Amino acid sequence: MNEVERLGAPVVRTVESRPFSDQRPGTSGLRRKVARFAEPHYLENFVQAIFDALGGVAGCTLVVGGDGRYFSDRALATIVALAVGNGVGRLVVGRGGLLSTPAASCLIRARGADFGVLLTASHNPGGPDGDFGVKVNGPNGGPASPELAERIWRASLAVERYRIADLPALSFDRLGEVRLGATVLEVVDPVADYAALMERLFDFERIRELFARGRFRLRFDALHAVTGPYAVEIFERRLGAPPGTVLHAEPREDFGGAPPDPNPVVAAELVALMNGDDPPDLGAASDGDGDRNLILGPGFYVNPCDSLAVLTHHARLVPGYARGLAGVARSMPTSRAVDRVAARLGIPCYETPVGWKYFGSLLDAGRVTLCGEESFGTGSDHLREKDGLWAVLFWLNLIAVTGKPVRALVREHWQTFGRDYFARHDYEHLDPERAAALYGALRDRLSSLPGTQVGERTLVAADEFRYRDPVAGVESEGEGLRIFTEDGGRVVLRLSGTDTEGATLRLYFDRHETDPTRLELAAPAALADLVAVAEEVAGIAAHTGRTRPDLAI
Ligand code: G1P
Ligand code: ZN
Repeated sequence: MNEVERLGAPVVRTVESRPFSDQRPGTSGLRRKVARFAEPHYLENFVQAIFDALGGVAGCTLVVGGDGRYFSDRALATIVALAVGNGVGRLVVGRGGLLSTPAASCLIRARGADFGVLLTASHNPGGPDGDFGVKVNGPNGGPASPELAERIWRASLAVERYRIADLPALSFDRLGEVRLGATVLEVVDPVADYAALMERLFDFERIRELFARGRFRLRFDALHAVTGPYAVEIFERRLGAPPGTVLHAEPREDFGGAPPDPNPVVAAELVALMNGDDPPDLGAASDGDGDRNLILGPGFYVNPCDSLAVLTHHARLVPGYARGLAGVARSMPTSRAVDRVAARLGIPCYETPVGWKYFGSLLDAGRVTLCGEESFGTGSDHLREKDGLWAVLFWLNLIAVTGKPVRALVREHWQTFGRDYFARHDYEHLDPERAAALYGALRDRLSSLPGTQVGERTLVAADEFRYRDPVAGVESEGEGLRIFTEDGGRVVLRLSGTDTEGATLRLYFDRHETDPTRLELAAPAALADLVAVAEEVAGIAAHTGRTRPDLAI
């Protein structure tokens, strides 16, 4: 243990403030434009609301870190000053203020911390005109439960003052401890605990052999976001992949200008590499804060819903899951591919609302081992966050053990279980009132839809998704509209809870196909009829004035 440096007792001030009305956490914490967060008292109020909602934080242990995006330095200094002002006992901060979301989850659990504050807006753009975000995680390492999120919101509406310490400029670049009054500030290596956990879950020996033969090549695109240092340590140092395996490894506060979003449209450079001459065997990417994953084979895109299903099917081949899975969970819009695997394995499969926070109680209760979302999120009970590098290591482990390439693993899966074609269309920056009107109008029509015919399709059922957490008993309503067609197709429509400008409408389409001659179609062609159903029943063009989505994946 390093010697604790003492910086004298800081002066703590109580600053009068007034509540902001827009601090209700969304799908994943509070996300706003940097300019909003930079307004006087805005961040201070929200952090004080978190502390108040937790019933005070005196003596608590708090983990803080984030994806290093623009405004993180200022936010970190403010949060440390508020934590000291509120008597936090120990503050554990990643060196340089960096912690990927999964590494923060890992650290909260490893240290038995009371909670964590994560500074990230995930895959949203960074920079002065970009987005910033603050997310709270509980002692299980996972996102604040829906009830805690609501308590934080109510506390934010009541904040009239905050307690903040006057601190000297602090550096977070040197490992060790500093005492600030009643608080110990500890700067830790952000990678060490996380990398050690990965070594316990996966067969590093087998993966090392894969790289050692020199015939297997990986390209991991960190998109200038937080996973760079983690990926270099794990893939290049511990697993022996050659230098240059990790692309764009250096974190930048604006992520190099592009959103750090690992979907096949934004990660175009990696996709081009994988579709080019002499592609690597596995291409992968993660997002701003390291919890998402994109998996590609040569000339082949793995849909995240299929990825979850394939990992579930083969989990026993991986040391960390060799004893089998207790159950699985997926968010409602995620395709039903994993359900089929769960049925085959004889384990339960839970369908939850969108957002990782709904998996927490199931993981804590030991009801599920793996879970995932169509939005490039996959994870397990090793943490309480989705985990981008974990997913890449899982694929590497499967490839190493089976000797099969990515494409073969997925194709075999389709041949065994049928293929769940899946697509998502996003309409961004919509007028929030119009988007709400579209949603409301369709919700009002739901009961009249069953039995109607749209093109060649007969609609057989329609509802608004609601969920009762089987562990906590908490009810969630209004979690998206679902329409089912006679031939097993499904259309889901919901409004995003992570956008910072206007509203985002998300449409999800999926259908199960078992005809062996129809397993290799392009997803858009296979789902075109469902896209037409959505347009017909929801009147998207009429409500929004848009004739095509901004993003189709
Ligand atoms: C989006 C995704 C959701 C994910 C969340 C946080 O939320 O759809 O699956 O959990 O980001 O990464 P949305 O904007 O749809 O509310
Ligand atoms: Zn993320």
